[in-house]
Amino acid sequence: MSTTSDDLDLFTPLFKYFRRLPEINCFKEAYSIETHPTLFEHCPITLTIDVDPSLGLQPITTWSLYSCKFSDGLYFLSNSFTSAGQRQWIDRCINIYPRQDKTNLGDNSNNQHLARIRWATLGYHYDWTNKIYKQGDHTKLPNELAQLSETIVKVISSNTNCPMMQPEAAIVNYYHINSTLCAHTDHSEYDALTKPLISFSFGNSAVFLIGGHTKSECKPSPILLRTGDIILMTGASRLCFHAIPRILSDPLLNDILYTNMDDNDKVCWSYIHDKRININLRQVYA
Ligand code: OGA
Ligand code: MN
Repeated sequence: MSTTSDDLDLFTPLFKYFRRLPEINCFKEAYSIETHPTLFEHCPITLTIDVDPSLGLQPITTWSLYSCKFSDGLYFLSNSFTSAGQRQWIDRCINIYPRQDKTNLGDNSNNQHLARIRWATLGYHYDWTNKIYKQGDHTKLPNELAQLSETIVKVISSNTNCPMMQPEAAIVNYYHINSTLCAHTDHSEYDALTKPLISFSFGNSAVFLIGGHTKSECKPSPILLRTGDIILMTGASRLCFHAIPRILSDPLLNDILYTNMDDNDKVCWSYIHDKRININLRQVYA
């Protein structure tokens, strides 16, 4: 069978490229405001609302919101968490969210298997085998997580044409330094596909690739995601192929997150120093 230009996979070669690229080059080549300022368009934030101090956020005037010129409907938000706030979210992802049976390991209620945790689901639980959510398979989405995503989406949607979203399902991904996430689209959210997906990064950095609606539509763009960064996929980008080909050890992580550690911080640091945690939230039903 001949391969036409219509089905040429532009995703896999770039995935393999970043998988093998020396770390220092990944930091330079993956897009960030510092390395590729012209690819991001700053969106001034005009809305000011009171944010609950328990969410670990900075005052909204400190946040930096950008629309990504290389992917229609993709937003990048930085400077929104405090260091203490990030520590608190990492702590929840280590000590609270994985203590249940909706994890890759099944029951982890005593958290004995933390080292082997790869994912935990919250709210409507994603069925990875059948790629669906089921109405009956639901536990309460933690309040603080719902409140966090509602606050962020409210601010972003008041300054852009991004619609509001009711968070109903969360996936927490735990990446080791050598972990990857293969190219995929998140399309199982029934009739909520017009609603944005919000994604939080904590711990070590990652190269996030985002391409088109098929692997051949366009060459993917690499984005550098660092601790505390938030991305929001809406509009065309909501259904685009994306992947994590690489986790990067962030030399500044300790300075950013863990100055003056107490005993609990030491436990968290011993976990996160060579890991990355991603929390992503979606609306499932209309
Ligand atoms: C996902 C996902 C990206 C990330 O869980 O669907 O795309 O940043 N995660 O880890
Ligand atoms: Mn995804």
